[in-house]
Amino acid sequence: MTATKRIVISSDHADIELRKNIAKHVAAKGYAVDDIGPMTTESTHYPIHGQAAAEKIATGEADLGIIVCGTGQGIMMSANKVPGIRCGVCSDVFSAKMIRAHNNAQMLSLGARVVGEGLALEIVDAFLEAEFEGGRHATRVDMIEG
Ligand code: RB5
Repeated sequence: MTATKRIVISSDHADIELRKNIAKHVAAKGYAVDDIGPMTTESTHYPIHGQAAAEKIATGEADLGIIVCGTGQGIMMSANKVPGIRCGVCSDVFSAKMIRAHNNAQMLSLGARVVGEGLALEIVDAFLEAEFEGGRHATRVDMIEG
């Protein structure tokens, strides 16, 4: 039996409702969810939350991560500063599948002001259901790490 995948979820203040709904959706699919907030809509700084989620993966406390800010860009850049982390912003289902299949990304970033909730949840599903294909893609991913 395969272990339940642990998913860390975080955001800045741009849309904590979307983040909470993603967390509910992911939990309903049977994943173990760690929603690390923030829990209020008070203005905050996306690097804090992107890096906190990325650290959970870097330390082995989570397998995959989903992060949200207004565009998805700032929080993605912040997560990618944590050594070993590969995070991509996706606004479409195909890219969400491919960042797992070809890039072995552990983290998905979403722009709450870019995609609606229905599309965001489809993107989340594509990301979580895809598997890394390895082979020639592993060679390339190793090259990213230097
Ligand atoms: C916050 O207003 C906004 O700048 C942030 O959520 C994000 O879009 C940054 O990349």
